[in-house]
Parts: sequence; structure tokens; C-alpha cells
Amino acid sequence: MYRTHNCGELRMEHIGQEVTLSGWVQRSRDKGFMMWTDLRDRYGITQLLFNEEKSSKELFETARSLGREDVVKITGVVIERVSKNDKIPTGSIEIEVTALEVLNKSKVPPFTIEDDSDGGDELRMKYRYLDIRRNPVKEKLMFRSNLAIETRKYLASQNFVEVETPVLIKSTPEGARDFVVPSRMNQGQFYALPQSPQTFKQILMVAGMDRYFQIVKCFRDEDLRADRQPEFTQIDCEMAFVTQEEILNTFEGLTKYLFKTTIGVELPDFPRMQYDEAMRRFGSDKPDLRFGMEFCELNDIAQNKGFSVFDNSELVVGICVEGIAEQYSNKDIKKLTEWMQRPQIGAKGLVYVKCNADGTFKSSVGKFFDDAALAEWAQKMGAKAGDMLFVLSGETDKTRKQLNELRLEMGRRLGLMKEGDFKPLWVVDFPLLEWDEELERFHAMHHPFTSPKKEEVERMLNGDHETMKRLKADAYDLVINGSEIGGGSIRIHDRELQSKNFKLLGFTPEEAEAQFGFLLGAFEYGAPPHGGIAFGFDRLCAVMNGSSSIRDFIAFPKNNQGRDMMIDAPSVIHQEQLDELGIGVIEMDVEA
Ligand code: AMO
Repeated sequence: MYRTHNCGELRMEHIGQEVTLSGWVQRSRDKGFMMWTDLRDRYGITQLLFNEEKSSKELFETARSLGREDVVKITGVVIERVSKNDKIPTGSIEIEVTALEVLNKSKVPPFTIEDDSDGGDELRMKYRYLDIRRNPVKEKLMFRSNLAIETRKYLASQNFVEVETPVLIKSTPEGARDFVVPSRMNQGQFYALPQSPQTFKQILMVAGMDRYFQIVKCFRDEDLRADRQPEFTQIDCEMAFVTQEEILNTFEGLTKYLFKTTIGVELPDFPRMQYDEAMRRFGSDKPDLRFGMEFCELNDIAQNKGFSVFDNSELVVGICVEGIAEQYSNKDIKKLTEWMQRPQIGAKGLVYVKCNADGTFKSSVGKFFDDAALAEWAQKMGAKAGDMLFVLSGETDKTRKQLNELRLEMGRRLGLMKEGDFKPLWVVDFPLLEWDEELERFHAMHHPFTSPKKEEVERMLNGDHETMKRLKADAYDLVINGSEIGGGSIRIHDRELQSKNFKLLGFTPEEAEAQFGFLLGAFEYGAPPHGGIAFGFDRLCAVMNGSSSIRDFIAFPKNNQGRDMMIDAPSVIHQEQLDELGIGVIEMDVEA
């Protein structure tokens, strides 16, 4: 037997018992005739005591030769510690070891296996099995496991059925590039890995499954960021005979349940905000509501006062940042302006107004606006003495996006995104279509199966081009603390409307038939009204733990180049494999 107990289990009540433990050597302290070693497993750490006087020479010498991360099995007696450690649950006891077996030696690990490791990101990813031995990483994976278990419990209690859908499929249009897999038996043809199980879950509704869910891997070949991985997990759901209202209530219920059971947080009812309102007030369809700093449009009072930059702009809009007027020097403002002018944000400039304590103003546009004019801005923006206004102008969408970046940056700098504060929000009434000026074509804002609002159907079937730009959809996102946690929609379940949507999106009838004929066909056999949602499971884990990166919640994540550093993938494959697949000769360098 390898163990009678685990390394996190023993307490004062076990004193006097003989126990056997197995685990990894964390560290040893050698005091000559006595030696203490911390033994670690998933459950915790137990201190071992090797006493030269009480044990055989061989045992004591073996103990001395132990290195970090060696795997050992020990037997001994639980005794009370002389100096207790109240930081760990087993800190009142130790084991006086009477037998020691080294199960496996370890090389010296490339970084320390402790809560604060000295290993860099790439090194820790290469040796992920060592990284996972560390508490912070291990705990995140255990959290994830618990979250999945609770998700299943809740959805099962609501009559959802978990159905697995295939991974080797045909392209699903979620807006990213597909990962493709060549078919050996159908040479020259390729499967695509699912960007989501979207079409399958809709077909399950036609098939009468009524309520479906799946905790499922999705694959998207897109540029990576802290909250994006090429393969990630969704809690994917679909319901038949539902309205948007029922879907929002069901998944608000799931979210509240998960917060309560896994981190003990009671969420209030989620507010709702229309997409247009979110863009107007925060310049983002995923506003972080942990702080205010709302946008204030100034066109009516700042235009036609002789400042041509404003006069020639579609939108003049600003935010009021409380209490920073005194602490921001000219140099700070210059640096902030340069930050806004970086290509990632692309602002042309940044107008500021300091609201001085004596009621006067200092502004970069003081030449064009006197104190009375600036006082009017301050009043409109709800500013008081000591506050600073930042104002941007330009084309509406671009300016809003830029000001959103500034708002978030100021929120970060002022510590307004408080840990443990959770602000969920439903963003609703998304536009159905998005016009791409450059390519001169429509994209689906959510995906091509999303239904316009009922009252829009007639306009969609018969309206002109401009009407199409304004169509609203029954589409919604769940946003928590500025992160898009989930998105979904009511679907089109009518063949004619679906064909019209494909046409608007630039598919010829033949292309639509070739790519989605199976779905259009299914719609002809009694498709029920249906809708659904998918949560980004990795993102939900991260947001619930106040983390901006999803990587640590994934056991084996990819780096920013999409590489798995541990197994070194992707990699070249042998010519024979390519030949079998009927894929032409690929130039390989000889080394590879
Ligand atoms: P959508 O594309 O909005 O909707 O995806 C749903 C949620 O999945 C998460 N997500 C990601 N997480 C990590 N890495 C990525 N690369 C990534 N891409 C998306 C986000 C997002 O909100 N089929 C629809 C759902 C539906 O309509 O029911 C879909 O996939 O949290």
C-alpha cells in the first residue's frame, strides 16, 4: 500500500497512529542529527522528522540524500510538533519516520515548485507538469473542475441533456479562420474543426431534444490574446420553444448558481442595456460597470466656437476623471496623449481640461474656450473642483472606441477595477448585420443563424440597403467586469428568412446550399422556434478569480504563437504521411 492518508489530512487527533504517506519532497532542513522534510501531494504538505538517534544509519543516510521533487513513500508515527505552524492545516503535527522508500529520483527542477516560482512563462509551459504541482496552478485547475461539475448539476436540474457533437466537421461560420484536417479516404478534401457546435445544436432542436448542453472544445484560428486561445471550451446550450426572455433568465440563473456554489458570491439581478446605449455611454459592447466615468457628448456646446477640429468632427465626447487634476503634471498629460496616439489606439490628440480648486480652468484648448465655456462643459459632465476632463473628437465609432480605451486605462490607474467586485450585465438588441466599408459587404454581427427581431422581419425581407444596416437582432451577450463571458441569440427557423440572410451575407444560393444545405433541409421538416447561448468557460473561470488571463485555467495552454511548448506542436510530419493524405511535396529543411 502506498498510503494510509494523504499529505493534507493529519491533525492532532491522529497523534500516536502509525501512518504511511507518499508524495514529493518539497524541501529539507538538515540540523545534523535531526532532519525535517516537507512532503507534498495534491492535498497538502506534511512535515517529516528523521531522527538519527531513533533510526537506522541506512534510513538516515537515505533521508539525507533526498533531493527536491524525489518521490518517496514513508511510514512513521504521528507526533505533536514542538514549534507549530499555524499557516498550514497539518502544522500541529509531524511524522517521526521509521521507514523510507525512494520510489523515484528527480532531476533538479528548472524552477522552484513553490507558490511564487522563479520560472518565466515559457519555461513553466514547457515543464507544465512541474508548474501544475504548484499550488496556484493546481488550485485553478481544481476550480475549473468544480465549476464544470456544478454547471452539469444545474443544467441537469433544468432538464438539459448533454449531447456530444462531432469534431471532424464542415466549416462553421463564427467569424474566425478554421483549423482543417485532411481526409485520407477522401483525398483533396478536408474536415474543419468546429469553431462552435452551432449548426449541430440547432439540428438537435429540430430533432426534438428540446434542451441541449455540452461542455465542449472549440477551435478558432485567430490572433491570440490574454483572453483567447486557439482551442478553448464553451458551455454550449440550446433550447426549443423559448423566447429571449426565458433564455436570459435561465442563464442568469446558471451564473448566479455558479457564483454562489463555487466562490460564495450572491449576485444581484443582472441589469440589461441595449447595444446602442452601451456604445453611447461607454463606447464598448462590453462595458466594465465596476466604475462610472461615463461618456458625455459635447457636440451641442463645444462645436461652432471656432475650434475647427471639433467643428469638423462627427462626435465630440469626453469623460470626467475624478480628483486627478492636481496630481497630473503637463508631462503626465503628454505621456498619456502619446499613449492614446499609439497605432493600437490611433487618437489624433487628446484635449484636457483641469478643473482647478479656485473655480478656474486650465485646458489645452483654452485659446478657443474661455472659463465660462469650460464651466459649461464641466457642468454638463458633472465635474467638480479637482477633476480632470478628457475630450476626443472625430468619426463616431472610432472616437468612442478610443475613449473606451482611455476610460479603461484610467480605471486601471486609479484602481477602480476592484477584485471581488462583480458587475454582470446583459447587453441586448445587437445589430443583425455589420457593414464592412472596406470590403463593401455585410458580416453577421453574431452569426448567420441569428434571427432579426420579430418586428424587423418584414423590413428585412423587403427593405433597402440602408434599412439592412439598422436591423436589430434577438442577440445578447453576458458581460462581467468588461469581459464578454457569453453570447447567443434566437435563431432563424424559417427557410425563406435564412436564405435571405445568406443572400445579404453574400452567399449565392448555390454556395449557401453547398455549405448549409443540411441545415436548410432540416428546417423543412418541422423546425421549432429555438435559441441558445454559449459561455466561454475558460473566461468564466478567469473572471470569477479576478484574473485577466485564461491560460492558467487551461491545463495545457498554447503560447502567443499558438505553440504547445511542452509537446512542441505544431510540427512537421513525414513525407509518407503527406503522401497517404494526397498532399503534395512540402519543402522541409533537412534538420526538421
Ligand atoms: P461566440 O462566438 O460569441 O458565440 O462565443 C461564445 C463565447 O466563447 C468565448 N470565446 C473564447 N474564449 C476563449 N478563446 C477564444 N478564442 C474564444 N472565442 C470565443 C467568449 C464568447 O462569448 N455559437 C455561438 C453561441 C450561440 O449563438 O449560441 C458562439 O460560439 O466568452
